[in-house]
Amino acid sequence: ADDARPAALAPVVSSSSTSSLASQAARKRCPEDFEFGRVLGEGSYSTVLYAREHVNNREYAVKMLDKRHIIKEKKTKYVAIEKDVLNKLAHPLIVKLYYTFQDLHSLYFVLELAKDGDMLGYIRKLGSFQLDAARFYIAEIIVAVMYLHSMGIVHRDLKPENILLDENMHIKITDFGTAKILDEPPSNSDTDPFAAGSTSASASVSSSSPSPPPPAPSSSSPSQDAGSSKRNSFVGTAEYCSPELLNDRAASKSSDVWAIGCILYHLLAGRPPFKGVNEYQTFQKIIKLDYTFPDGFPPTARDLVSSILVLDTANRPSLAEIQKHPFFDGFDWTDIHTQQAPDLR
Ligand code: ADE
Repeated sequence: ADDARPAALAPVVSSSSTSSLASQAARKRCPEDFEFGRVLGEGSYSTVLYAREHVNNREYAVKMLDKRHIIKEKKTKYVAIEKDVLNKLAHPLIVKLYYTFQDLHSLYFVLELAKDGDMLGYIRKLGSFQLDAARFYIAEIIVAVMYLHSMGIVHRDLKPENILLDENMHIKITDFGTAKILDEPPSNSDTDPFAAGSTSASASVSSSSPSPPPPAPSSSSPSQDAGSSKRNSFVGTAEYCSPELLNDRAASKSSDVWAIGCILYHLLAGRPPFKGVNEYQTFQKIIKLDYTFPDGFPPTARDLVSSILVLDTANRPSLAEIQKHPFFDGFDWTDIHTQQAPDLR
């Protein structure tokens, strides 16, 4: 009102000095834009912090990655993949990436906040899930992973720790640091950034995964990267890792299906199907398909898990086939993310 500037200059000055919605949305964020709070999670390369954006009081989970550590451990490709993948995805059951920025020491991923922790926390609290709750959560995971696969992305590290829960107790799948983008340049796994040989043969794991399997003494052990093979060096978290990842290092959609079978078993039995005293023993159990069902495991769930946990990927059902299994008879798949989530008690 009492602005004495020439009228022609006013819009230019005002768009940079005030925060119009458009300029606010496009602006690159910086750490000072946020009030950081408690630690929500920690991985080997990152720390996730609760944060609030000053201008609008919005809450987020901010993943901070240490640049020096990432460069030293040659994980830059994984960080790039995580950002690229998250930028492609828009689904109510998958964590959203709002902004990225960096300062001298860190990279920052400003993520959608999932307020109710992760599924592993609920398994621990409850021992196991009631059948209806297990059916609902496996259905949500299936819907989210079908979307991922439709976007040409395989997660490769699905596990209860990576299934977060929002304030309405719906899932938000997270941690795409080990995801694989399918059929990008000539469908040749040599072009896979996870392939060994080009840089070092060091194994690659997600920020929240344990160490890769130790070099194993027997020939039936997970293959080590020789440098010229088409195999990649990635192995997911031991308990949910598929036999083909261990044997051939070949990741495909069916590796995510295997993990979903393991998660269904885990929800109902209260423990994962394959668990040895150490990672090596766990991997041995997986490649031998050495698992049993506890007494009282629901028969239709048992039938479904048995159909998923098969060594040959060609015999493993697709997610669309799993949706038609009797375990889901009468289940309403429409707009699952808007349904009332079951009470976990
Ligand atoms: N821990 C890791 N990522 C998270 C997120 N997006 N929300 C809440 N807790 C988390």
